[in-house]
Amino acid sequence: MSPTTTAVDTAVHLAQLYKTYPNGPEVVTALAGVSLDIPPGSFTAVMGPSGSGKSTFLNCASGLDTPTSGRVVLGGTDLTALAPDDVTRFRRRHVGFVFQAYNLVGHLTVAENIGLPLLLDARRPDPVWQDALVAAVGLTGLEQRLPSELSGGQAQRVAIARALVARPTVVFADEPTGALDRRTGDQVLDVLRTTAKSLGQTLVVVTHDPHVAAAADRVLFLADGRLAGEMVAPTTAQIAARLVELGS
Ligand SMILES: Nc1ncnc2c1ncn2[C@@H]1O[C@H](COP(=O)(O)OP(=O)(O)O)[C@@H](O)[C@H]1O
Ligand SMILES: [Mg+2]
Repeated sequence: MSPTTTAVDTAVHLAQLYKTYPNGPEVVTALAGVSLDIPPGSFTAVMGPSGSGKSTFLNCASGLDTPTSGRVVLGGTDLTALAPDDVTRFRRRHVGFVFQAYNLVGHLTVAENIGLPLLLDARRPDPVWQDALVAAVGLTGLEQRLPSELSGGQAQRVAIARALVARPTVVFADEPTGALDRRTGDQVLDVLRTTAKSLGQTLVVVTHDPHVAAAADRVLFLADGRLAGEMVAPTTAQIAARLVELGS
């Protein structure tokens, strides 16, 4: 196998990922050698204390940010070997992202926000597919609203539909339920999980909430920029106990 390819049964392959930030004369190490393989179609939760590197991990693994060293291979494509423009193009086609703060465009309607990734990639809109997606996330009838006319839960559903509209291989979400109450958060997570699953997409979600993580196939724990353990299909109670052990 050449160094630029990996086994096709890996959706996300990370090898010795490091990310440092300059901080005056000092250097902050946000990621300190993370290596990991995530199988296609799986749901992975990432947990860890504030400042442990979760957002940096997600940003580097998704191609939003560039690691200081190490390799990021998504669906067999080595992002760390691509020029920045090619990373952007790859990301638009193959990666979906959901943020805690929704990040919708305020002057665009729900339908326009959802169609934005296709527009940015100069791809033809697919109204039948977009309508099906709007229905899947429970937004039928709200297509012409502006983001300011939506509840938090509705706004996050728009962000989820927008993340899925380009049929990405991998969907990354950084605390997608963090700004929502428990019940709304549960509903939004359920929409994200079932829609991603029905489309065969790989889902990686950063969360503080053991209850959210318990829906995952695998839970990874980060501490000080390193993988500090993992659990396969754990219960909420098992996750909560592990977080206590890890001191977060
Ligand atoms: N742009 C940045 N510049 C400097 N330091 C940063 C930057 N982003 C993150 N960090 C630092 O990297 C570490 C990890 O941050 P982050 O990935 O945001 O953690 P988490 O999402 O787990 O709270 C923290 O110490 C944070 O202060
Ligand atoms: Mg974070």
